[in-house]
Amino acid sequence: MIASLATESAPAKINLALHVRRRRPDGYHDLETLFAFAVEGDLLHAKVADRLSLEIGGAFAAGLGTGEENLVMRAAITLRDRFGLEAGAAIRLEKHLPIASGIGGGSADAAAALRLLSRIWGIDPADPAVSAIAAELGADVRACLLGQPTIGLGRGDALTPFANPFAGEPLLLVNPLVAVSTGQVFANWDRVDHGALQPGRPGSWRNDLTAPAIALAPAIADVLERLAAASGATFVRMSGSGATCFAIFESEVARDAAAAAFTDCWALATRLG
Ligand code: C5P
Repeated sequence: MIASLATESAPAKINLALHVRRRRPDGYHDLETLFAFAVEGDLLHAKVADRLSLEIGGAFAAGLGTGEENLVMRAAITLRDRFGLEAGAAIRLEKHLPIASGIGGGSADAAAALRLLSRIWGIDPADPAVSAIAAELGADVRACLLGQPTIGLGRGDALTPFANPFAGEPLLLVNPLVAVSTGQVFANWDRVDHGALQPGRPGSWRNDLTAPAIALAPAIADVLERLAAASGATFVRMSGSGATCFAIFESEVARDAAAAAFTDCWALATRLG
């Protein structure tokens, strides 16, 4: 076990494509999605302690609980119990990403907690039991645990590697600061299958949750329009169930100029990993 303070980043998750194919009997939806990650996101720190505790700081800390309702705590408790450990950990989450915003949030934090606590508790992060816990915590947590570009099938948790053609490119994330519930957005899906994902054809990549999310949060349409009109934007979509939208830019200068215009929104100028 590592007694000193350890740190792990929880990069923002971006769905470059999210094709919804069908509603499943278990209430989930079969997806074909492309996961990619920004180089920035939330941050987690932890050190071994007698018991488990969580404190939260950062711009979006308000309103987040520190008990078992928080996915970070659930990840910690499940990992500890599954591996039969007595150890605890003092965990600190720096919440920089908006809550319920389609870029991982809770899923990215839970995945980072699994990586970080595995490290300080001496668990092999590649142990299949860790990946199994990730899948139990949420459909996106397994993709966030890997943190690499992947194609996600099924609930989004059957993963294969994907060579992201946009890797390393300048990225702008914009959120109109409206929280949307993933479950509600999926429930609003029109149940029309618009066809399979073609990983080699970025121009054909859709996010089928865009219209249902706009129905709940009309501000998303305005953000998408403004990003599409920005000089130097080459690829513009909503991520996940929204409301965060993103644009990939041909240069950092173009990205930063576009970012400066979003004074009414949360905006993060970053890069794809
Ligand atoms: O798994 P997670 O808790 O992140 O999912 C939140 C909600 O999103 C689920 O309760 C479900 O309503 C919806 N969902 C879905 N199909 C998926 C992923 C999520 O319907 N593939």
